[in-house]
Amino acid sequence: MAERIALFATTARGTEDLLADELKELGARRIRQDRGGVRFMATLDEALKVCLWSRIAMRVLYPLGAFEAHGAEGLYEAAAEIPWEEHLTPETTFAVDATLKDSEHTHSGFVALKVKDAIVDRIRDAKGARPDVNTRDPDVRVVAHLSRETLSLSLDLCGEPLHRRGYRVRPTPAPLKETLAAALLRAASYTGEEALVDPMCGSGTLLIEAGLIARRRAPGLNRDFAVERWPELGTRARELLADLRADARRNERKVTVPLLGFDKDPEALEAASRNVRAAKLSEEIHLAEGDATKLPPLPATGGLIITNPPYGDRLGSGGQKGMKSFYFKLGESLRVPGWRVWVLSGNPAFESAFHARPSARRDLWNGPIACTLLGYRPSGGPARPDGDTSEAPLGVPHEPADVAPVRPQHEGEEEG
Ligand SMILES: C[S@@+](CC[C@H](N)C(=O)[O-])C[C@H]1O[C@@H](n2cnc3c(N)ncnc32)[C@H](O)[C@@H]1O
Repeated sequence: MAERIALFATTARGTEDLLADELKELGARRIRQDRGGVRFMATLDEALKVCLWSRIAMRVLYPLGAFEAHGAEGLYEAAAEIPWEEHLTPETTFAVDATLKDSEHTHSGFVALKVKDAIVDRIRDAKGARPDVNTRDPDVRVVAHLSRETLSLSLDLCGEPLHRRGYRVRPTPAPLKETLAAALLRAASYTGEEALVDPMCGSGTLLIEAGLIARRRAPGLNRDFAVERWPELGTRARELLADLRADARRNERKVTVPLLGFDKDPEALEAASRNVRAAKLSEEIHLAEGDATKLPPLPATGGLIITNPPYGDRLGSGGQKGMKSFYFKLGESLRVPGWRVWVLSGNPAFESAFHARPSARRDLWNGPIACTLLGYRPSGGPARPDGDTSEAPLGVPHEPADVAPVRPQHEGEEEG
């Protein structure tokens, strides 16, 4: 891979442009957005830099070919077209991950099996012995995607998807993927130079990703990549990565801005605290129990409030009406002078209940959930209960009838 080769980095739908920007910064060439990913050209060195430094990409794939494939035999024959002996030896373990879209086959496992058979037979014919399958920790991970009757085959440079940074030691229900959290921070133009608050931090993903950005730490620093074990490229990849990792360690810097997280659930906070420790960001990130609808005074410097509130009725009784009233209270509490606000919402009722006009909006997918990311400029003067701020309100806030107005708190005010 001395010359540039064509690669494909995958990402959450709706974040392709953010990944394209990031890849450009990382030195990728001929960048082209596609659905759910970005195509680009890179040398091995540049590709490894992407594996180590991309905060947003989920996988980095090396496409080997795409073929028409009809029926079970068609899958086998298509897969057998690839010169697998150039990528694997009988000593290399491998696994096939298959995904399907609008295909005649209903089981991805069946497609994976046909591709696996073709790989095994082709290497046995070429080398006289077959490689073993290891689904848990393979040397080479083959990615098969069957869309209608087109079978695309790739090698995954990373192995474990890139969102596995290694710091999520204690999950909570509905955590954000690390890569999606990083995409949200990029959408909000967060560069690590300003204070940040997540008032509903759950397991702490947004805070930790913000901490990694502020620290200038490579997100893949504490993990390895499948390409380091590839028979042809492994040795060179390990050498190049050793240099890239050493550079990354040298260029880390101190975090000079506060990163604050609140959650009302002590279990979520305990998980966040463990994850923060695993990410080695305990000194940088401060966590406290707190209700996002009664935010304590925030630093007068201003900064970024970024969060993803609950989407559904997990707040006890009250159903959708209860959610609207909760979002209304958030609208009162989170609009702190000098602080811009970004919210990822999976509930269509959020926007009107929050009663402020967003200055930025993006539709994206959080796994299978269609979401909207909304950005709000900082309010200029002290926000008043009537919603009259420099952020043009959407008319009179339509407060649900069952909600008593909540007085927003500001720097220096006592909690009342
Ligand atoms: C969708 S989860 C956030 C997930 C988080 N971004 C992560 O990656 O783990 C929503 C969080 O909001 C918290 N929450 C709900 N109501 C709250 C409130 N009034 N104040 C503070 N936290 C609240 C829940 O405990 C939950 O942890």
